Amino acid sequence: MVRSSAVLLALVSLVAAKPLATRRWDDFEVKHAWTEAPKGWKYHGPAPADHVLDMRISLKQDRLEDLITALYEVSDPAHHKYGQHLSKADVEALVAPHSDSVDLVDSWLSEHGVSIADVQRLNGGSWLSIPITVEQASRMMNATYSLYQHEPSNEYVVRTMSYSLPSVLHPHVGVITPTTYFSTMRSMRATSHLQPQVPPIDNDIGLSAKLVDPVSLATVPSSCASTITPTCLRALYNSSTYVPKATDVNKLGVAGYLSEFANDADLQTFFGKFRTDAVGATFQHVQVNGGANNQNDPGVEANLDIQYTEGMSFPTPNIYYSTGGSPPFTPDGNTPTNTNEPYLDWLNFIIAQTTVPQTFTTSYGDDEQTVPLDYATEVCNLFAQLGARGSSIMFSSGDDGVGGGTCLTNDGTNTKRFQPNFPASCPFVTTVGATTRINPEVAVSFSGGGFSNYFAQPSYQTSAVSTFLTKLGSTNSGQFNKTGRAYPDVAAQGEGFQVVVGGRTESVAGTSASSPTFAGVIALLNDFRLSQGKSALGFLNPILYSSGIAGFNDITSGSNPGCGTNGFTAGAGWDPVTGLGTPDFGKLQALIG
Ligand SMILES: *[C@@H]1O[C@H](CO)[C@@H](O)[C@H](O)[C@H]1NC(C)=O
Ligand SMILES: *[C@@H]1O[C@H](CO)[C@@H](O)[C@H](O)[C@H]1NC(C)=O
Ligand SMILES: *[C@@H]1O[C@H](CO)[C@@H](O)[C@H](O)[C@H]1NC(C)=O
Repeated sequence: MVRSSAVLLALVSLVAAKPLATRRWDDFEVKHAWTEAPKGWKYHGPAPADHVLDMRISLKQDRLEDLITALYEVSDPAHHKYGQHLSKADVEALVAPHSDSVDLVDSWLSEHGVSIADVQRLNGGSWLSIPITVEQASRMMNATYSLYQHEPSNEYVVRTMSYSLPSVLHPHVGVITPTTYFSTMRSMRATSHLQPQVPPIDNDIGLSAKLVDPVSLATVPSSCASTITPTCLRALYNSSTYVPKATDVNKLGVAGYLSEFANDADLQTFFGKFRTDAVGATFQHVQVNGGANNQNDPGVEANLDIQYTEGMSFPTPNIYYSTGGSPPFTPDGNTPTNTNEPYLDWLNFIIAQTTVPQTFTTSYGDDEQTVPLDYATEVCNLFAQLGARGSSIMFSSGDDGVGGGTCLTNDGTNTKRFQPNFPASCPFVTTVGATTRINPEVAVSFSGGGFSNYFAQPSYQTSAVSTFLTKLGSTNSGQFNKTGRAYPDVAAQGEGFQVVVGGRTESVAGTSASSPTFAGVIALLNDFRLSQGKSALGFLNPILYSSGIAGFNDITSGSNPGCGTNGFTAGAGWDPVTGLGTPDFGKLQALIG
């Protein structure tokens, strides 16, 4: 590495001002390390030393506790600040790093030949973005960057099995990427799957005609027990007579990844069959970080999301975000290869906007244990920032019940334990599980649920969860963390969704059908509040577990087996299969609207 003399001069003057000359940058302490390569990944070979990484550093947010306090104040219906959401500038002030952190990290970067002028400062200065070579990064973090191959998808990434920081930096740095988080969006599972065994229906025009004024669950037609359309959901969740009014300000955003494209023509075909009053309504495509919009390649997940968010919330404006970030690895030393860490790219993009949609849904997730704790913590804090600004954020709970596959821990002990999902396990998002059938709805066996091993149980759910744990007794004891954040929070239908893909109607299942459905109901509630001059709902969980609780249809049967066990069982009250239950829009409107 050739260091520019300007950088050296700057460093010398910094050193003269502060006794940094005595600073040691080589007393490494491990920041994060894996004991084995994450499942599905294989070592391929050394990474080229001159390969350029797009390095991101999160600096410890000096007033993070104040941000979390502010988030709970504006989200707690009993607090006098309820609904007084923070502006972008308010949040940036709370997450800005302390100047000592900035100075220390800058001098560490300078010491390693990084020009401070090349450092881009994002999100109130709490995130740094720096182009850096593998050689530099390896030296700075005593890391060994290698090429790893994801065998199922044949993708390559440059990652290290461990990284360290000089001990003086540990109190100042949250996470550095790309380091030990191996997920590409391709290895991340979209949670929907096709159901070829459920014959699709051609349209439901006869059905919707019968449902002009469905005020009671008894009127939901029997066909909704096997095939789901917006008509079924609007009847089931008691929203079919509501007409949105705040369509000039209210927005519903769908986060898309995996090169999944939402198709305009398919949406029109879908409306023609299943929501005729919406024919002609479109949605906005927003491309984030090189995300594409290939209208010749409709995605099942993307079409499912947009057809049901818009099918539920029409005429509320919907936005589909297509986030790039998984280009095939090319060992080209001259251009930074994207870090393949799309939550960060998407979140940094959204957080940089002055106004943000009031409702979001995302249908992707990873096993929590495959996401390094420092990474998960920083991403979860970004969701807290969005919540403080007044966004409700829905995530699907996952499609593996209490855990798929062998459920062995990756800490070297290979212990069998339930496997929670992230970001479902982040306490600042609203996690949506799945139901099926009608009169009554029951839990679907794949409905992801459980307890985080990373995040402590937030107080908003203590009462609901402890009631459940008391009833549970010693069942599944040792398989899960009783003190962890428990999920899902809520549920919605998750099987037999009629989705138009490439002009054909398919039946689709997954909690990724449930999350957009629930988000659609929340968008309608936000519409109702905004049209009355009230604030949007923002971070939902504190209000859902308190004043909103009676606005849910409690789901009391079904279970979510996994890891060779029967999993958890749905019962009266909150449970880790269907949460508080499915929404009743009419009741929620009266309670929290
Ligand atoms: C750097 O990491 C290696 C393992 O990759 C370890 O053996 C070595 O002790 C570390 N060096 C320092 C200075 O901590
Ligand atoms: C259980 O969860 C807590 C957070 O509530 C965490 O600190 C602890 O490490 C977890 N235990 C295990 C065994 O993962
Ligand atoms: C549906 O909502 C209405 C208010 O719009 C409410 O009075 C009614 O109880 C709800 N119906 C059911 C079946 O929950």
